[in-house]
Amino acid sequence: MRRHCGTCVLEIDGLSVQFEVNQTNLTVIRELSLSIPDNTVMGLVGESGSGKSVTALSILGLLPQNGRIQSGTIAWQGTEIQAFSDAQYKKIRGCDIGLVFQNPLSSLNPVFSIQDQFVETLRLQFGHTKVQAINEAAYWLDRVGIPDANKRLRDYPHQFSLGMCQRIMIALTLAMKPKLLIADEPTASLDVTIQAQILELLQALRSELGMSVLLISHDLGVIAQQCDTVAVMYLGELVECASASALFSNPKHPYTQALLAAIPIPDPHAPKPQRLMGELPSLYNRPKGCAFHTRCPQVMPQCKAKRPVLHNSGCHGVACWLHPEEL
Ligand SMILES: Nc1ncnc2c1ncn2[C@@H]1O[C@H](COP(=O)(O)OP(=O)(O)OP(=O)(O)O)[C@@H](O)[C@H]1O
Ligand SMILES: [Mg+2]
Repeated sequence: MRRHCGTCVLEIDGLSVQFEVNQTNLTVIRELSLSIPDNTVMGLVGESGSGKSVTALSILGLLPQNGRIQSGTIAWQGTEIQAFSDAQYKKIRGCDIGLVFQNPLSSLNPVFSIQDQFVETLRLQFGHTKVQAINEAAYWLDRVGIPDANKRLRDYPHQFSLGMCQRIMIALTLAMKPKLLIADEPTASLDVTIQAQILELLQALRSELGMSVLLISHDLGVIAQQCDTVAVMYLGELVECASASALFSNPKHPYTQALLAAIPIPDPHAPKPQRLMGELPSLYNRPKGCAFHTRCPQVMPQCKAKRPVLHNSGCHGVACWLHPEEL
């Protein structure tokens, strides 16, 4: 059942995404429903391969050639966009929804100076004059902590370190004042102090610009610090979604509990973090019933027979037969 939510920038309902691999259709995202409220930072976590980036790419209409949305809807401010053409998506990407991902070099153009990249983007988007665009560029470079921003505008991407390129890409994205920023491991290539600086900046701008953020990260410490709500994915499915405080103080899904138990604590006397048992199952051989049952310490017979699906990511949703009242 589709649930319209007046105060959500983005609503994903029952999204399934397939990839064609060796003439076989592989379901990578399965019946995912997720709503991102206005002015909220939502964290998206899960093991490598759980489908976080594919979810982000689906929202932006950037699935690779062999991928397609098999079913479900993605609504941007109430308008369904999952069947938009590339031209229609182009209007949304950048200005409404900004994307920052781990590899900044793939989105900065190596043959243009940083200044030219800002001028081109801001002229197209806001009709800025060259002088206005240059001023704006210097402002944003300064805000992401690039020293001597005015002087460095004429430099080319190869004249900056990887961490600086990442900050420039974040500056370029934020200069577009998106209503939703999707940040896929945005600070993974940055050292810890710069990482903290960028995350603080995102927090400040989120209120300043009234922006929502979908923050994808492996780092549960970052998620706990930065996010208002958290969604947990396992094998392409949403298994738990709650406010950050509820999720970290009272995780309900055994997978979320295992993820939290695996966080290292910087205390030599603390018990060793517990390792999640077993491997992530192959998508070619998705377990029947609950996808997590093969690794779940609390597995019950019904978990192997019937799949719990989280339809409503309301207050504290959990897709687990230990909590049938939530389904
Ligand atoms: N073009 C593709 N063709 C086939 N399978 C793909 C393709 N792109 C991604 N996948 C598969 O989709 C699944 C989800 O991948 P995704 O990149 O979303 O994971 P992730 O949660 O972002 O992982 P990580 O934390 O490592 O970034 C993986 O099993 C991956 O192998
Ligand atoms: Mg990823």
